[in-house]
Amino acid sequence: MTLSEIEKARADSLAEIAVADAAAAEALRVKYIGRNGIITALIKAMKDVPKEERPAFGRAVQEWKSAAAAAIAGKSSVAAQGDRGVEADLTLPGRWFGLGVKHPLTRVMEETAEIFGRLGFSVADGPEIENRFNNFTALNTPPHHPSQDRADTFWFGDDLLLRTQTSPVQIRTMMANKPPIRVICPGRTFRRDTTDATHSANFHQIEGLYVDTLPDKPVSLADLKSVLAYFAKSMMGAGATVRFRPHFFPFTEPSVEVDFSCHLCKGAGCAVCKQSGWIEVAGAGMVDPRVFKHVGYDPEKVSGYAFGFGVERIAMIKYGIPDIRWLYENDVRFLSQLG
Ligand code: PHE
Repeated sequence: MTLSEIEKARADSLAEIAVADAAAAEALRVKYIGRNGIITALIKAMKDVPKEERPAFGRAVQEWKSAAAAAIAGKSSVAAQGDRGVEADLTLPGRWFGLGVKHPLTRVMEETAEIFGRLGFSVADGPEIENRFNNFTALNTPPHHPSQDRADTFWFGDDLLLRTQTSPVQIRTMMANKPPIRVICPGRTFRRDTTDATHSANFHQIEGLYVDTLPDKPVSLADLKSVLAYFAKSMMGAGATVRFRPHFFPFTEPSVEVDFSCHLCKGAGCAVCKQSGWIEVAGAGMVDPRVFKHVGYDPEKVSGYAFGFGVERIAMIKYGIPDIRWLYENDVRFLSQLG
């Protein structure tokens, strides 16, 4: 073929493709650029073209091939829309596949980090597999304490275990840093609980720890209460309040259990708060001097508070989720309601 013959053949082929439907376009693809196609044959025949004409000839053939391929490709995408019943109306909006949303537990943990971040707390982290010292001994929990029992804790032999609380991150943080310390530690925790509507063997906590130096910066239970009241309002809404009930934890003295006013009935009493108007959300207290000794701090020179929130608890009352299992089943009908 001469150059002008190529020019003409190219114009003819593009006209032919322009009027073809999707099925005909496939036949034309085979005819022109298939393995034995007309353009393919010209490319193969290039070696017989006199040397000086080869560059111009090659360029013309390649351009023809690109133009034909693009025209054929355009046909098949229009055809695909036609197959979906859209009748090639290119003005219709595209299909919407929906965006993913953050899981409620992730939301609660991120929001908690953001709220405490405003108060000067940073986020600390620790491993899910801990040792006995960090999870129990340094937290003043003796070997005979029921929480160390094989029936309550997942042990790997005598020393390693799946952490039963985020409190070991307190120990790690204090051993690695000097006061002042202000951290929160969101993470996974594990206990040998049988799963039901309010229990799960794998759940999440958010630990908090504030330690400062004595005598210049004493930390009090009132400081703890004011920080938790601020957190309650930020997380649950301006009307939320907290109350402390006396309790016992081996690693805090005094110890309290922390209730939020019921988010659903605003304190009036409902089925979720068992008519009490309050929901338990955390354990807390002033760091026990024995814990300070275990991490190498002088209890005469420091004081501090610690708290541990249940993340599932907060998510369930914040979003009105009646069954903890919904948080782990990954049913998009449930998860997408938070979008
Ligand atoms: N670790 C305790 C629990 O899991 C909660 C807690 C944390 C209590 C910090 C006091 C201080 O129940």
